[in-house]
Formats: sequence, C-alpha cells, structure tokens
Amino acid sequence: MTVAARQKELATLFRRARVIPVLTIERLEDAVRLAEALVAGGFGTLEVTLRTPVAIEAAKAIIGEVPDAVVGIGTILSPNDLARAEELGARFGVSPGATPELLKAAAASTVPFVPGIATASELMQALAHGFELAKFFPAEQAGGIKGLRALAGPFPNARFCPTGGIGEANAVSWLVEPNVVAVGGSWLCPPAEIRAGNWTSITAMCQRTVKSLKPT
Ligand code: 3PG
Repeated sequence: MTVAARQKELATLFRRARVIPVLTIERLEDAVRLAEALVAGGFGTLEVTLRTPVAIEAAKAIIGEVPDAVVGIGTILSPNDLARAEELGARFGVSPGATPELLKAAAASTVPFVPGIATASELMQALAHGFELAKFFPAEQAGGIKGLRALAGPFPNARFCPTGGIGEANAVSWLVEPNVVAVGGSWLCPPAEIRAGNWTSITAMCQRTVKSLKPT
C-alpha cells in the first residue's frame, strides 16, 4: 500500500473518531481500565504516548484486552520509536514533529503515520514524503484556528488533526473547519482522575464531549 493510500484510510478512521484521546500512562495497571472507560464514553481511537517507562507494555495490554479500542502510538520521535509501534501492531503512529529522518522511515514503514507540523515549511516536507494528513501541533499555541485557516490556502489537499490546548470547550470549533478530520487531546485523561481510578467520571466526561459535538 502506498503512503497516500495508508493516509487516506487513516483520515477516514480519524474522521469517524472525531476526538482522539491522548493517553499518558504512569502505572501499567491503569492502562486497560482507562482504555475501557474511554471506549465506554464513545472514544475508542486512542493515542498512547511513549512518554513513560510503561508506555509500550500499556499499549500492548490495551491491544490485547480491549478489542474495541483502536490503538495508535504517539510521541514518536525517531525511526526506532516507529519500529516499536510497528512491532506492537499499532494501527497508527503520531509524532509531534517531522524530521527528514522520521519522514523517510515512516514512508517506508507499514504503520500509517501522522507527522506533526506547525509551519508551512514543515508541512511542505511532510507533503513531499506523501503525508497529506498531519497533526497541527501545538494547535492553540501555534496560531490556533486562524493559523490553520491560513495554511488551507496554499495547501488545499492537506488534512489535519489539531492537538495541543484543545478541550471540551473548543473541540467543536476546530472540528467544523473543513480541513480538520479530528482533534486530539489529553483533556479526557486527567492524571488526577487516573491516579484515583475514577473511571466512571472519565466515561462521563467523554459522554459530555460526545454531546457537545452534536449539532444543536
Ligand atoms: C500531545 O502530545 O499531543 C499533547 O501533549 C496533547 O496536548 P494537550 O495536552 O494540550 O491536549
């Protein structure tokens, strides 16, 4: 499958998901419970970040034990991280950035990949490698919705998953942008709730977000 075909499939998956929770898992025993809480709340397409020592084991546990979750790996910083995601059977990989080295490795990998971009030049590099779907990161800080709109002119084919500073209050205003397929964010996984094992409150928060996305 070509990069373009993989990206197209991924864009469809993201469009269906609308919101991609970004998970940072400190304790392995939280992984499955957290994923189940998110799936129960309506968000099953998950980005498990490689930011903690247990991240890989956590992703493995979710893939093995939560069949309704679609698990991607985030915070991919190097070709080695991408290879780990591929080994795990991750459905996609997400990076906060887009180094030439990583883009090259991602184009050759079987894992659908979403590079991170914040500028026109970074987006041009991603597009040159065939990546038309990019993470706009950090979305609010890198120009917000106006910044993203400005990129739509010169890059009409680019599609985005803005992430960074997005929450229940502003998710919908990003999602109505024509070049946005989904938004990502950590707001559905508050560390205090995870630490306390408040799974029902995480599910309730997801359900609230689902409601807020419905056209009124
Ligand atoms: C990410 O890795 O995508 C970000 O940390 C998520 O940003 P947020 O915490 O502002 O949602």
